[in-house]
Amino acid sequence: MDDIRILAIESSCDETAASVVKNGREVLSNVISSQIALHTLYGGVVPEIASRKHIEKIDQVITRALEEAGVTLDDIDAVGVTYGPGLVGALLVGVAEAKALAYARNLPLVGVHHIEGHISANYIENPDLEPPFLCLVVSGGHTHLVIVRDYGEFEILGRTRDDAAGEAFDKVARAIGLGYPGGPKIDKAAKEGNPSAYDFPRGKVTGSPYDFSFSGLKSAVLNYLNSASMKGETVRREDVAASFQKAVTDVLTEHTMEAAKDYKIKKIAIAGGVASNSALRASMEEACRRRNYSFYRPSPVLCTDNAAMIGCAAYYEYIRGTRSGWDLNAVPDLKLGER
Ligand code: KG4
Ligand code: ZN
Repeated sequence: MDDIRILAIESSCDETAASVVKNGREVLSNVISSQIALHTLYGGVVPEIASRKHIEKIDQVITRALEEAGVTLDDIDAVGVTYGPGLVGALLVGVAEAKALAYARNLPLVGVHHIEGHISANYIENPDLEPPFLCLVVSGGHTHLVIVRDYGEFEILGRTRDDAAGEAFDKVARAIGLGYPGGPKIDKAAKEGNPSAYDFPRGKVTGSPYDFSFSGLKSAVLNYLNSASMKGETVRREDVAASFQKAVTDVLTEHTMEAAKDYKIKKIAIAGGVASNSALRASMEEACRRRNYSFYRPSPVLCTDNAAMIGCAAYYEYIRGTRSGWDLNAVPDLKLGER
């Protein structure tokens, strides 16, 4: 089969990203323009600012992705783009750009689900990884435990009932004064803290062993901070960060191992921004090692939002025959497995 080169575009939240991926797993370029510094001023992502910044950056990012890959649009076989879920205005920038490029160059257009992208990031550095496998998807907007039955075929075993894991990290980071973006800051602070300093609750959803709930944990941290401040006690935020992080990673690891056992799956992967968390990586690795499971995780730069993962997912959709029409639209609440 001839080589297939996909130009992929990602703009669902606060990263403007483009990538050229060859045959699904070979990343020729992976350009990411982050808006983090801009949104830090406001303590979180401001959707309208994100959309405007995407418009400013997207052409440069695509040009750089083509240059770094050493190709031109003449070498591209298809355009892949995230069309949901995400911020509608942000998604629309990538979708409009991808449609314009594909239409002008008469190229096939492949709309990609953002979470399918995150999961596919695992294929990039693991040439031996093939479905089926179990994947824990933990990002700023999603917490899903998914069986990847085949390329593009998913069975969702569990999901969060309230906050996503990344959202919990971001909210707790704000409460302990670490600011935005919370995940990486808690990860860093926790390295100096004691994970057993506080016994924060491990949320369970009665009757749904694979579902998650982080709102009780978040409230427990906030209550602790409030009562400490009323009593005039000083709080060691490194200890709070480490104890909170331990509570999250314990629950994520336990539920994943429970599902692996019940469904007899011995290949486990993690994906999404929170999958770059050092404690989660260590805890999942150790749990898999003890059970003799194979453990897969993308490099941190491929865990957080990027377009290489979208190029990888687009490739497998492309060879399955998925094609989007010129009416492709941004779908902010797109469900995994739906088109
Ligand atoms: O996947 P992602 O880049 O964007 C979404 O699709 O949501 O995930 C972003 C989330 C944020 O909540 C961020 O705080 C979290 O991932 N995150 C982390 C770490 N790096 C990013 N959470 C914990 N530890 C990290 N090192
Ligand atoms: Zn994401």
